[in-house]
Amino acid sequence: MNNNLNEENPIRCKTIIVGNSGVGKTSIISRYLRKFNPKEKSTIGASFTNKIEIINNRQIIFEIWDTAGQERFRSINTIFYQDAYICLLVYDITSKQSFEDIKSYWYNSVVEQSSKNILFHLVGNKMDLLEEETVEKKDVEAYGKEIDAEVSYISAKDENNIYVDMLFQKIGEKFINSPLLKELEENSRSYRTEKVKLDNEGESIADKKNRSCC
Ligand code: GTP
Ligand code: MG
Repeated sequence: MNNNLNEENPIRCKTIIVGNSGVGKTSIISRYLRKFNPKEKSTIGASFTNKIEIINNRQIIFEIWDTAGQERFRSINTIFYQDAYICLLVYDITSKQSFEDIKSYWYNSVVEQSSKNILFHLVGNKMDLLEEETVEKKDVEAYGKEIDAEVSYISAKDENNIYVDMLFQKIGEKFINSPLLKELEENSRSYRTEKVKLDNEGESIADKKNRSCC
């Protein structure tokens, strides 16, 4: 049991997952939630889910927005990028195009829609198909350096769940140790509802004082 666990102020971290259709975004989330479906349907619009993790004695709630990769949803998807703190840029290691599109479209699209810094993480999915790999790791690493993003190679298909669990653990640790945590905590403090004192009739004392007489 960990007595130092800070449960009072969980870190609510909006996380978006973007990349071409078919790279495995939904499968990664489903694997993370232990709901992997090999016959996953293409996402329409976006879907939301969350998962709580304990990382470095802090509770972190990943509020995950899984977006659709199909071209027809591209403009509508940008509304889900607002206020994101973490962005997973996912490509398929067997599809050069999916990596090229991260560089030419997905990264810029998220940066353009956001008014603040975001922790980007590059994810090469489908590592179980390593013999069909067409994207050179050295190109991915170089691009990761360029945009200041770490790279993870995973397989959503792998039944051990280890890749996806490690991925979120790594991102969580990185986030907690980044200046973005302070930014998030300051923002959530300003949104927190003030406690309101009520009198016996249930009226806010502050309201009563402010109410003009007669
Ligand atoms: P959109 O919702 O259209 O944007 O696609 P998506 O990125 O969410 O892809 P999805 O998760 O629907 O996966 C597309 C296909 O790839 C499905 O048939 C998955 O079963 C398959 N797939 C996903 N991850 C893996 C993986 O790690 N390995 C292999 N071999 N197949 C995978
Ligand atoms: Mg999907």
